[in-house]
Amino acid sequence: MKIISVVGARPNFMKIAPFIHAIAVYNKTATKEKTIEHVLVHTGQHYDDRMSKAFFEGLNIPDADFNLNIGSGTHAEQVGNTMIEIEKVIMREKPDWIVVVGDVNATLACSVTAKKEWVKCCHIEAGLRSGDLKMPEEINRLVTDRLSDILLTPDRISISNLKKEGIEDKHIEFVGNIMIDTLEANRIKAESLDINKIILNNWFDGAKSNEGDFALMTLHRPSNVDEKEIFEPIIEFLLNEVASDMQLIWPIHPRAKKNLEAFGLYEKVINHPNIIILQPLNYHEMLRMNIGARIMLTDSGGLQEECTVLGTPCLTLRWNTERPITLREHGGASVLVGNNAERIRQEYRNTLIIERKPQRPELWDGNTASRCLEAILNYKEN
Ligand code: UD1
Repeated sequence: MKIISVVGARPNFMKIAPFIHAIAVYNKTATKEKTIEHVLVHTGQHYDDRMSKAFFEGLNIPDADFNLNIGSGTHAEQVGNTMIEIEKVIMREKPDWIVVVGDVNATLACSVTAKKEWVKCCHIEAGLRSGDLKMPEEINRLVTDRLSDILLTPDRISISNLKKEGIEDKHIEFVGNIMIDTLEANRIKAESLDINKIILNNWFDGAKSNEGDFALMTLHRPSNVDEKEIFEPIIEFLLNEVASDMQLIWPIHPRAKKNLEAFGLYEKVINHPNIIILQPLNYHEMLRMNIGARIMLTDSGGLQEECTVLGTPCLTLRWNTERPITLREHGGASVLVGNNAERIRQEYRNTLIIERKPQRPELWDGNTASRCLEAILNYKEN
């Protein structure tokens, strides 16, 4: 059997690493005829070393067999260029399966192209729905799930989402959250890292070190950082409130940094004595920071999930989530606060008094990748 798996952007790397590892483990005992030939494709949507190479190295992902070098662009450019390039790879490699993860533009482009070439498609992290079609990721999820032959879900809510859309049971399998495989495999190494060394290795502004409690923040969604009227009140809240209570550590996404500069806010933030702006961190560094943080402020879906397992109280700066299992009402660590500074302020105060409370949703047990591979190996077309 030949499998092509695809990655494109940062959140894909921690999802594919355990899957590749599961194939290697399987191949060790498989007979020659049953051995899986694996081909890794990187679409190149994320290309900075800190957004891509650092994850390949840190998570022991083998070099990609093909890099499509798509780079930045509009959605149509990224998706269209990826389709043109992955079609060539599919025609040349003639795989039995294409495996896509998550909800980025690579996920959409490669599932559509695979199906047009009659290649079976497996989607890891299927069935998540925010209901918000203004999110590019929601469109990517809907199309990928409609086309995929195997839909591997991280939780039971996702199964019911798929069923509501009319997807038959035989295509759906509940396997758990593959990102937690990566978290569990790397937790000990992350715990051994020193927070001040991480700051030293990644600073922009220099001369600051961590003392005492800190809030950890990441922001990258266009809905939060692309408009000054939205981004500026969030920044004011950070400067006036969070940073007067404790240090704020902010590993900054290239999109957020570019917009802070464009809106004339960058100097104010970087010169604040209690705010530490860092370059994008590698996997272990970010996990270490999350383990040590008093509170997380984020618009990342993956961090919402990691906060749930680590117990870090989390404010999710979004109005909706495709990951309701991470919300406090479902036993998780996070609460939706949108991007209105008044609402964020209120929930921030409530959240400061919450204790760390790690939770483990069903099948988030560190063994999801082998269940994903089993599902492919056991698949029967009819
Ligand atoms: C993408 C994913 C999003 C995911 C996020 C994680 C889609 C639709 N979105 O969003 O789901 O949560 O990745 O980061 O696929 N840039 C660099 N260097 C890079 C990559 C990007 O400087 O290596 C800059 C460019 O200016 C680019 C901007 O960041 O225009 C945004 O990058 P892009 O890949 O378009 O989307 P993300 O916002 O990263």
